[in-house]
Amino acid sequence: MSMVVTGATGILGGLVIEHLLKKVPANEIIASVRNVEKASKLADLGVEVRHGDYMDMESMKKSFEGASKVLFISSPDSDNTLRVRQHANVVQAARDAGIKYIAYTGYAFGEQSQVPLAFVHMATEYAIRTTNIPYTFLRNSLYTEVFVNPGLNAAIESGELVTNAGNGRLNAVTRNDLARAAATVLTEEGHENKNYNLVNPKPWSFDELAQILTEVTGKKVVHRSIAFDEMKEYLVKAGLPEPVAELSASIYDAVSEGETAKTSDDLTNLIGTPTSLKEVVKQTFQG
Ligand SMILES: NC(=O)c1ccc[n+]([C@@H]2O[C@H](COP(=O)([O-])OP(=O)(O)OC[C@H]3O[C@@H](n4cnc5c(N)ncnc54)[C@H](OP(=O)(O)O)[C@@H]3O)[C@@H](O)[C@H]2O)c1
Repeated sequence: MSMVVTGATGILGGLVIEHLLKKVPANEIIASVRNVEKASKLADLGVEVRHGDYMDMESMKKSFEGASKVLFISSPDSDNTLRVRQHANVVQAARDAGIKYIAYTGYAFGEQSQVPLAFVHMATEYAIRTTNIPYTFLRNSLYTEVFVNPGLNAAIESGELVTNAGNGRLNAVTRNDLARAAATVLTEEGHENKNYNLVNPKPWSFDELAQILTEVTGKKVVHRSIAFDEMKEYLVKAGLPEPVAELSASIYDAVSEGETAKTSDDLTNLIGTPTSLKEVVKQTFQG
């Protein structure tokens, strides 16, 4: 009974395969990738690598042939209408290849969200439901790594972590924990036709992040929250292209409005306690 992982050359896909290999033999795993050469490490592990491009329905269908399960990892494209078309190709390919189960990486609490990317994920969930293929919607939180990464070195050096997130809280989860959850649903029974909001049951604030940065690095860091427009200007001055600065400020805005504060036990039920913020900060800044 083989399972296909799409987007397998990406960070999340690679981690899912790492965790699947602890649970099933390599010859039960198929990596569907748009660039086969990029997947040589997966082939070395004994995983079958097949070409599949979300832009090309027939290639996706071929990459699904003979498999029973698919983990469909959402496209990273920044054009949301294009993502909807890519995702429809993947869903049609799964249906026409006779796939028996799809797990899809969506967006946490997507049905309550008003951000455009949530609409892409909801459109994809509904497309999957039109096929009657049993599914699990892995509604992922924002990745912790989006906020905790070497880019914070600037805040550590200056002593100031600047955002427009206010007191907003983040239910972020590491890619590795989300990958563990995906590997669990793919290899266990009983997750069919379920929606899981895979969020951190203990959301944290940027004040707390500043405090943990201080503890871990020994350099005092404080969080300063500013207005949306000021933040955009601050990020542009720091060297970010304007659209990226706008996107970052919009994410902090969503955080300040409570979009990312919602909690659920779904993740804990699948993998136990997720990695703590302090642990992620230690892994990032102490190696
Ligand atoms: N929750 C969050 O905070 C968050 C943040 C960013 C993204 N996401 C979403 O989560 C997904 C997985 O995250 P990630 O960190 O693993 O992203 P990633 O490292 O960028 O991986 C994306 C994967 O999608 C593949 N891909 C791109 N276009 C494709 C196409 N036309 N056909 C087939 N495959 C294609 C990429 O292939 P190549 O290796 O050939 O490029 C790569 O394997 C992203 O794609 C995005 O939808 C979530």
